Amino acid sequence: MKTRYRDVVIIGAGAAGMMCAAEAGRRGRRVLVVDHAQTPGEKIRISGGGRCNFTNLNTAPRNFLSQNPRFCISALSRYTSQDFIALVRRHGIAFHEKILGQLFCDQSAQQIITMLTDEMAAGGVELALSTGVETVEAAADGGFRLRTGNEMIHCASLVIASGGLSIPKIGATGFGYDIARQFGLKVTETRPALVPLTFGPEDLARVKPLAGVAVDARVSCDGTGFDEALLFTHRGLSGPVILQISSFWRDGRDIVVDMAPGVDVFELLRQARSDSGRQAPVTVLSRLLPRRLAQRIAEDHGVETARLADLGDRRLRTLADAVGAWRIRPAGTEGYRTAEVTLGGVDTRELDQKTMMARKLPGLHFIGEVVDVTGWLGGYNFQWAWSSGWAAGQAV
Ligand code: FDA
Repeated sequence: MKTRYRDVVIIGAGAAGMMCAAEAGRRGRRVLVVDHAQTPGEKIRISGGGRCNFTNLNTAPRNFLSQNPRFCISALSRYTSQDFIALVRRHGIAFHEKILGQLFCDQSAQQIITMLTDEMAAGGVELALSTGVETVEAAADGGFRLRTGNEMIHCASLVIASGGLSIPKIGATGFGYDIARQFGLKVTETRPALVPLTFGPEDLARVKPLAGVAVDARVSCDGTGFDEALLFTHRGLSGPVILQISSFWRDGRDIVVDMAPGVDVFELLRQARSDSGRQAPVTVLSRLLPRRLAQRIAEDHGVETARLADLGDRRLRTLADAVGAWRIRPAGTEGYRTAEVTLGGVDTRELDQKTMMARKLPGLHFIGEVVDVTGWLGGYNFQWAWSSGWAAGQAV
């Protein structure tokens, strides 16, 4: 069996792995990146609707979930969104801010992949695609030994950049968690995040006719709230605001949806009643909501043919709450099939925040999504991949 030696082996040619490889290569390390996929950066390719929301101008530690919220501070402050923007500019990639500090390529996510593969090539990094890793073991004389289909690879530093469990169809696996456990490192509970929420049969029967309707909303769960677009679907709710709150939602909890943020709907209805009691409630609600949604709410409350003058304050209050404080308990999520990320992962207490190296096992690093650091929607997850990849790239 063929044997080769490299200073650094990185498992996973995704966002974090390629950034780490480019940095280690630039420092003169002999780097091999191994990935079982046929092409590098598949998630980058499909990200941001094909335009890759590659970072966020407002990146700060508060945009990340982790059992240790302070863990991400070091890497994020040493390799910032401005550092990544400078790299993107050096490669002549045009970009724009969409909303809320979210930066997207003007043309295609493929430009980010090409930028990273060019950076790797400049550092002499080798890329072994369509290559699975069968075994990993710590070598008695230090370093690591990996067996792939047809060769043994020895390395001094091993970086696990194999991502999370979301979208198994394009190659996501639990490989990184298995390696962590193999070496006695704790892994926190993992679950799908940035994912649409689904309803049980009763709630679904009510919202299904609204599939396709979108509205700007504030959605909260257990004291955390987001303001963005909400979309009714055939299975429940989606849209950016739902993806955001899904990271905070747990089985058995309610979410509260305000479909007219900043508006006192009760006062609006009362005012409308005193201005012209002959109006139908749906006419007033349609000023705030898409008509289909306004009609549905009026029907749900048996006031589709009523006049405002027929309704007392209590019924107006109930109607207002259906718009401004709709409390609903999702039955579940769409799961890893569509989740953008995996929440949880390699326990950050096992890792050094500066180098991403396992405290128990010098030479073994974990970067990117496999670590228990999960960003909000909006380019934060890529920024974590760049920052953690860069940090490990300085240390391997
Ligand atoms: P990533 O998943 O990118 O890479 C892991 C690599 O490891 C893959 O190439 C995989 O093939 C390889 N691998 C896995 N198991 C292996 C094994 N056993 N052996 C060998 N190789 C293995 N984020 C953001 O900030 N902005 C955005 O616009 C989006 N958009 C978006 C859209 C969609 C549809 C999804 C699913 C996700 C996003 N994200 C996002 C999230 C973002 O894609 C994600 O957080 C990063 O890709 C994580 O980077 P990593 O390098 O950690 O993993």
